[in-house]
Amino acid sequence: TRPRITVVGSVNLDLVATAEKLPIAGETVTGATFAQHPGGKGANQALAARRLGADVSMIARTGEGPNRDAALALLKADGVDLSGIVGDTEEQTGVALIAVDKAGENQIVVASGANRNLTPDDVKIDGAPDAILCQLEVPTACVLAAMRAKSRLFAVNLAPAAPVPVELLEKTDLLVVNEGEAAFYGEGIHRGEGMVALTLGGQGAVLYRAGKEIARAPAFTVPVIDTTGAGDTFCCALVLALAEGREEGEALRFASAASALAVTKPGAQPSLPWREEVGAFLEEQD
Ligand code: RIB
Ligand code: NA
Repeated sequence: TRPRITVVGSVNLDLVATAEKLPIAGETVTGATFAQHPGGKGANQALAARRLGADVSMIARTGEGPNRDAALALLKADGVDLSGIVGDTEEQTGVALIAVDKAGENQIVVASGANRNLTPDDVKIDGAPDAILCQLEVPTACVLAAMRAKSRLFAVNLAPAAPVPVELLEKTDLLVVNEGEAAFYGEGIHRGEGMVALTLGGQGAVLYRAGKEIARAPAFTVPVIDTTGAGDTFCCALVLALAEGREEGEALRFASAASALAVTKPGAQPSLPWREEVGAFLEEQD
């Protein structure tokens, strides 16, 4: 049966410039090409979970102008339940300015807009989904409201890193961090009884429970086109696989494969893989 996953998080419109190199402070880089895609860590994770085989509901805030339709287009096309998305009358839909270089590395500045107006009252989750997944691009109070809702697995991607109440670090069933985020939180993420997934880029990923390593997956070698969306794919692939009851090592390997596929294509949402692609990719590796 398909797991039911609720994502509480951000919706952005991504304005992407792909250039030879990323600018340093005060520098102007010219000669880039431009593309616009739906994005936002919340929306990316919702869409990826859907493409990987879950029934997904999204809780978020957008503005009411034209960017809303552009930002929600792929979620809508792929059948994510959008009934929990509130139209904000004061702020615009979130926008992310993204620069990508020829090595696929990125720099992102998010103008949060309506995302920052999401309230705990907007977070209405009933029917105890198999998993609830949050990130930190919406107010922490909303993440705490999601934590108090009933589910089998409560997961938080601590991205972008920001101070959060200790309670959240201790009570979350699954925290997902990259190396930078792990350094920001330090030992704080290993204090609870839950799991912590740490992604190490080219070095793969490690899963801990109550501070002890329980699984490790190597990275897959793929051509790097654009890493945007890879972290989002990793998170929801791991959550989905665990919600399906798969063994931890296998779930971690599935998540690594899904995120490897996301770096081989430009953009965040356009690069999110379908379940069949991940299956085929994993078979090629054996
Ligand atoms: O994780 C990638 C996402 O971060 C982008 O889609 C952008 O919108 C920012 O939220
Ligand atoms: Na990508």
